[in-house]
Amino acid sequence: MRFAYRKPVRYLFGEGVLNELPKLLTPYRKVLLVTGRKSAKESSLLNRVLNLLKPFETLLFTGVSPNPDEEQVKAIAREARKADALVALGGGSTMDAAKVAALVAAEGGEPWDYVREGLKSKREPGRALPLLAVPTTAGTGSEVNRHAVISSYRRKKKLPVSGEPLYPQACLADPEVTATLPPYQTALGAYDALVHAVESYANEPPHPPAERDALTCAELVLKHLPRAYEKPDELSARAGLLLASAYGGWAIDHKGVGVAHALEHALSGLRPEVAHAEGLSALTPAVLSHFVPLAPERYGPFARLFGLGSVEELPRAFYGLARRYGLPVSLKELGVKESELGLIARAALTDAPRAFKKAPAPVGEKELLTILKRAFRGEP
Ligand SMILES: [Fe+2]
Repeated sequence: MRFAYRKPVRYLFGEGVLNELPKLLTPYRKVLLVTGRKSAKESSLLNRVLNLLKPFETLLFTGVSPNPDEEQVKAIAREARKADALVALGGGSTMDAAKVAALVAAEGGEPWDYVREGLKSKREPGRALPLLAVPTTAGTGSEVNRHAVISSYRRKKKLPVSGEPLYPQACLADPEVTATLPPYQTALGAYDALVHAVESYANEPPHPPAERDALTCAELVLKHLPRAYEKPDELSARAGLLLASAYGGWAIDHKGVGVAHALEHALSGLRPEVAHAEGLSALTPAVLSHFVPLAPERYGPFARLFGLGSVEELPRAFYGLARRYGLPVSLKELGVKESELGLIARAALTDAPRAFKKAPAPVGEKELLTILKRAFRGEP
């Protein structure tokens, strides 16, 4: 067995760590603050962060959309060129768009030059402007890893950008910042983290420390999601989910995501209105139904965490979890047409070959179609 293990992002965690922002930005003069559409504006968070940024010349880009388009990333990069550093305040879409914009601003070219389509990208990420991540949701893991995912509405694709320059310089993980997140969004984030855990754990080759991170992630999600959902302002539950997000992020940084993510990216490439975790919650039970019987030992620890009698019950447990929190359980309810399933299967295979190579058992177009048909009907 061979592996390397590291966590290069300076990770500051706890209530009030947001206040460390000015200190971390001391070396810089001009800062671009990037935020999403709603969350920052609706709460007083944006004003609080702007206040913290008073010592700096601050530029502001608001309105990053879910599944951000390459044109939007280009627009952020244009602003970023006027700055020395970026602060990404938001969920996965905001952080990912800002990470790619920081790369394009420093390195030149277009955002789409850096996406990995199949095994390669047109350009390798060389360097990026420094970026601080302030997650306002818990789940994506982008705050601690070297991955970002962007979309091209024109090309109907959603693809990853990965590389060393995409590591944030630091992450300020403050549970207070996530306390205004509505229950549905909270459950979506938690589900995403849980899928990061189960997919990375099952992937080949083995990597004990990253697998430990994956299990810690799942343990934290299962423990804290019920309370975070019912009592949104309970900070200890928020803290648990925020930490789960980082553990999931570290796990996928070392072992990658799996087939549910490959299919989800193909799906929201085709339909950008589908939120990442909504796609995952509709797809994951069917993906697990395929893999669990073929490699039960790769899923046993999760069955135990769920308190199940046997590992075969795991797909149904994921399905049940989605149902309990009102998340989608079928592709049909997401507006996907049955005639699109073949397109999704083929796009996943060509766009994300790595996920299939790492999968715990072989899977081809035929098996993917069976998985997608089950997910379409909403059968675990
Ligand atoms: Fe994800």
